[in-house]
Amino acid sequence: MKIKNHLGIAALAAVALAACQPKQEAKPDFLTEEINNIVAQHTIQTDIIEKSGKCLNPRTLDTLGNIVYVPIDDWTSGFFPGSMWLDYDLTKDEKWKNLAEKYTEALDSVKYLKWHHDVGFMIGCSYLTGYRLCGQPEYKDVIVEAAKSLSTRFRPNAGVIQSWDADRGWQGKRGWECPVIIDNMMNLELLFEATRLSGDSTFHKIAVSHADQTMKNHFRADNSCYHVVDYALKDGSVRSRQTAQGYAHESAWARGQAWAIYGFTTCYRYTHDQRYLDQAEKTLNFYLTDKNLPKDLIPYWDFDAPKIPNEPRDASAAACIASALYEMDGYCQGKNYKALADTIVTHLAGPDYKAKVGENGNFILMHSVGSIPHGQEIDVPLNYADYYYEEALIRKRDLENNQPFSFVTEKDSVQ
Ligand code: GLY
Repeated sequence: MKIKNHLGIAALAAVALAACQPKQEAKPDFLTEEINNIVAQHTIQTDIIEKSGKCLNPRTLDTLGNIVYVPIDDWTSGFFPGSMWLDYDLTKDEKWKNLAEKYTEALDSVKYLKWHHDVGFMIGCSYLTGYRLCGQPEYKDVIVEAAKSLSTRFRPNAGVIQSWDADRGWQGKRGWECPVIIDNMMNLELLFEATRLSGDSTFHKIAVSHADQTMKNHFRADNSCYHVVDYALKDGSVRSRQTAQGYAHESAWARGQAWAIYGFTTCYRYTHDQRYLDQAEKTLNFYLTDKNLPKDLIPYWDFDAPKIPNEPRDASAAACIASALYEMDGYCQGKNYKALADTIVTHLAGPDYKAKVGENGNFILMHSVGSIPHGQEIDVPLNYADYYYEEALIRKRDLENNQPFSFVTEKDSVQ
């Protein structure tokens, strides 16, 4: 009895003490914390842009720490509008939808762009993401027109979409005839979707041909991929296998591996062709088992960079792979790719990679690499690192809620 009384008094005292304490706010969960951070950074970013009165498109920071804005024909112009759509998806706040529409529609004429292959990134991340979320009929026409433009770069003898013109810019000085870069795998989603939206199977067939040729010619025995394969226009034979942004022709450029893993996973989504998923998994296995992959799964910019561990990391490659892994998790039962993706995302969200609000030019992630051989964008924020990071967060959210991905239209669109 005595003991009981003591316990009763102690319990009362505890309640009284708690009532006198200042109220502790519950710590927001992981996703809420990430959304709050993204909203805070993008609020500052878009306030700067809106105040300028121009439709600016931020890509990165220069060596002096100034924000670099890009013209609409830059390959990265779709990522910032795309991030606005992802902000809308994460918050359901109409403010982000309005900004997303504004920055997306500034890219309208990109649908006619035919002088490089990146229209898939540009229109895919902006218009296609918007269309998936809000279904604007006029966006559908832009997506199909852009797919037509991209298709003009298809070279039937080689069965591939030519990435870069062989007589333009620094690429024109390399002696290439029909250069195809692994990055081009990321443009195929636009073609698959254009067939779905228009009923014209030409786009789908071009995408399949490109994926098949890439699978045949871009990979080494260890399933790492080359960056550039140059084809002969006359007969489609391979003229050379090289790099442009990696350390060496025979090295494994980290973002190239990311483009391959993500790109072949997307091809599987639209075709259900097991060979594509197998290729994505094989390249993922290369990535995961390479001795130079750090424990946080965020790679150095090239797996063969000479001064590892004193080489910059590439957060953009990691973010892209994390997003792909969440999709692969649904296709590869029993592999728990989600756990790997969670590891990457958790590290990206940590203080080593995520910038403090108001810093880093108001980009979300630090520590990506554009192109070391060109001396450009070394250890900087990049708008595509942020885009794929946000996409990964959305996929994580949807997986954990047992929901289909909010911006993957259909799983069964085999033509
Ligand atoms: N698509 C160009 C790059 O990945 O840097």
